[in-house]
Amino acid sequence: MSEKTWSDVDAYLEAELRPAGDPVLEAVLAANAEAGLPDIDVSAVEGLLLGLVVRMSGARRVLEIGTLGGYSAICMARSLPADGRLVSLEAQSRHAEVARANVDRAGLADRVEIRVGAALDLLPDIEAEGLHPFDLVFIDADKSNNAAYLDWAVRLGRPGTVIIVDNVIRGGAVSDSARTDSSVEGARAAISYLGQHPRISATALQTVGAKGYDGFALGIVD
Ligand code: SAH
Ligand code: DHB
Ligand code: MG
Repeated sequence: MSEKTWSDVDAYLEAELRPAGDPVLEAVLAANAEAGLPDIDVSAVEGLLLGLVVRMSGARRVLEIGTLGGYSAICMARSLPADGRLVSLEAQSRHAEVARANVDRAGLADRVEIRVGAALDLLPDIEAEGLHPFDLVFIDADKSNNAAYLDWAVRLGRPGTVIIVDNVIRGGAVSDSARTDSSVEGARAAISYLGQHPRISATALQTVGAKGYDGFALGIVD
């Protein structure tokens, strides 16, 4: 089995599950490529999952850490009720600019707010402004800060808050003790945090697909 099989199956799933295509998300990916953003958004099927989790959890307030071009933000925001709100934090102003244009084009400007800065600098403001409690927190930024972001997710959450952490498998490197790069250490930090926290129940799933071999963790604040 090869990466080509994984991509072919993702293409098959997209074609079957979204037979009419998705012009909004296609435009997002085109704009991202045009702007030279890295191709590290969640995959189409993971985006569908994010939207489903928003609906299944009845989320009205969503916090995202790591916007890039807004692909995952749009996947989640369009599953929110009309009075729902998503705040997304992005360190790079160029990424945020592209994301804002994508969100505007998607007709979601009223539901999505993108803030520019290092997330750990912005999170205290979010708390001070009382934008919490968040019903869903999606962590997908610099992996070395995963544990700090999880602290914030709990702090700005409530019992029942859903937490998703992207990229916790890293081609299988997460369980290879010879791998000590910061993104792999960040993946381990997330899994360990979720396992040890007295008020979180969590799992993690390996995924293969158009974006290779990775995975995500899914938890809930008890
Ligand atoms: N969630 C996006 C992908 C995010 S890629 C999607 O699926 O569409 C990771 C993003 O996190 C990048 O845009 C990067 O600039 C941003 N980032 C990295 N370090 C950050 C930090 N300290 N604070 C906020 N964002 C950060
Ligand atoms: C990277 C980051 C991501 O959020 C992702 O989904 C894939 C790759 C990266 O930094 O390489
Ligand atoms: Mg990611």
